[in-house]
Amino acid sequence: SQTGRTQGGPGSGKGTQCERIVKDYGLTHLSSGDLLRSEVESGSARGKRLKDIMERGELVSLDIVLELIRDAMTNNASSRGFLIDGFPRELEQGVRFEKEVAPCQFVLFFDVSEAVMQQRLLKRGETSGRVDDNEATIKKRFHTFQELTKPVIEHYRQQSKVVQIDASGSVDAVFGQVKSALESRGL
Ligand code: AP5
Ligand code: MG
Repeated sequence: SQTGRTQGGPGSGKGTQCERIVKDYGLTHLSSGDLLRSEVESGSARGKRLKDIMERGELVSLDIVLELIRDAMTNNASSRGFLIDGFPRELEQGVRFEKEVAPCQFVLFFDVSEAVMQQRLLKRGETSGRVDDNEATIKKRFHTFQELTKPVIEHYRQQSKVVQIDASGSVDAVFGQVKSALESRGL
């Protein structure tokens, strides 16, 4: 089955676009961030440690993320394909996942300025209840993205798997570009 990825900084619109994509293309959306937040909500001791890390805008350990995604894929084994959102966040995560679980066919990279992303996240923070939608954590999430995740995008760019999308426009305008990208890849 197909496995694609979405990449982009915090607030670039990955989750929003994934919701639109799964409606039209029948892929299963798996977000490592969402899986981690449900682990936190479960109230487990591990969840408490995860929450602290997410509150600092850092990455949680590779093994936990790999396990969560692997389990979610097993639970949806009949899916026609997976769209894995905000993943991999660091090079080793990607390398291990491809070796142990599934190769990556394409990466949609939602590119937009930090100013716009910050504005979106602060607005969402008024109601989201997310522990990381505040100015201090947003700054750290930007830093983590630049230092650890940007190199992952470069890695896939060298394999010609990245489709860069201008994510500064409206949700519809961004989705229009997503559709052309997916259709050009035969989806
Ligand atoms: P994660 O949950 O992945 O968060 P993120 O990448 O920081 O980004 P968001 O989910 O906040 O933004 P998004 O790009 O999905 O945008 P959205 O569509 O929501 O990760 C959170 C934390 O978990 C990480 O910091 C890390 O600690 C940990 N983690 C996660 N994955 C991990 C991994 N693989 N390994 C290790 N640790 C991991 O949109 C944002 C807002 O903007 C919304 O309000 C939306 O309505 C609005 N919006 C969207 N598009 C538009 C548009 N075009 N115009 C105007 N508004 C828009
Ligand atoms: Mg998201």
